[in-house]
Amino acid sequence: MKILITGSNGMLGHDLQDALREKHELILTTSKSLDITDKNHTIEFICDAKPDIVINSAAYTDVDGCEENESLAYAVNGDGVKNLALACSKIDCPLVHISTDYIFNGKKNSPLVEDDEIGPISVYGKSKLKGEEAILEILDKYFIVRTAWLYGTNGKNFPKTMLELAENHSEITVVYDEVGTPTYTPDLAKAISELIETDFYGIYHITNSGSCSWCEFARYIFDVADVDVKVIPVTASEFARPAPRPSYSVLNNSNWIKNGFKPLRNYKEAIKEYIGLIK
Ligand SMILES: NC(=O)c1ccc[n+]([C@@H]2O[C@H](COP(=O)([O-])OP(=O)(O)OC[C@H]3O[C@@H](n4cnc5c(N)ncnc54)[C@H](OP(=O)(O)O)[C@@H]3O)[C@@H](O)[C@H]2O)c1
Repeated sequence: MKILITGSNGMLGHDLQDALREKHELILTTSKSLDITDKNHTIEFICDAKPDIVINSAAYTDVDGCEENESLAYAVNGDGVKNLALACSKIDCPLVHISTDYIFNGKKNSPLVEDDEIGPISVYGKSKLKGEEAILEILDKYFIVRTAWLYGTNGKNFPKTMLELAENHSEITVVYDEVGTPTYTPDLAKAISELIETDFYGIYHITNSGSCSWCEFARYIFDVADVDVKVIPVTASEFARPAPRPSYSVLNNSNWIKNGFKPLRNYKEAIKEYIGLIK
């Protein structure tokens, strides 16, 4: 297939390239070559390229930054996605769009299924929801993939930050009242490569298996990396950040399993592989 990837320079974008390049022809775009907020250019570019499928891994992903730069958040995560959906509808091409657990409000305390009630509590979550809504309105052929707590070798992420902090701190405070599922971007990219071989369109929750709090995750990272640092649990309200986060956003990968795909490995196995690669 001819696959156009937006945000191909991003953390997930890099791993999508690795997962897809052997079997497919890739058209790799960045914010410079294809700024998805530019409606006319986006439509023209995609109509000219005539891909068989578009994967949108572009987004404004700075969750705290979105609170301050609200208009940029909506432009990229809402209107940008709408522009892609309009372009895809013109050439009847499916769109894979990456969304987030932050479209949920965190009040449910058991794993969230795809049609659970949504209610984002941050500008980032609200802007990402706008993107989902645009797709549902414009396209029939879409895969909306909600994922969570991403980390990989090509981006800024929580495990990397923890290991960097540990280089010059003997104690680190980490939030314990937010629970989710850390997800390794190569595992997610592989799942997306399987999904696009099908026409099982719809909304999917795709994460690694298992769940933990940030604090438990940090402790596990230090354990695996054999780093001696004291992790001090704090509440999200003690660890003030501009954007509120859902306190519970574990995603039940129910549509993924229902459609016959294999559950992704446990986050503990995935983080071991990642630490082995970066240490
Ligand atoms: N990171 C997480 O923990 C997490 C959790 C859940 C869901 N997600 C979602 O997963 C997806 C991938 O996340 P990620 O962490 O890999 O993101 P990332 O590393 O921040 O990469 C995002 C990419 O988007 C591109 N971009 C930004 N504005 C753009 C624009 N106007 N036009 C075109 N491209 C633009 C950037 O391109 P340039 O580099 O070319 O400027 C950047 O490379 C996103 O949809 C995100 O919302 C992420």
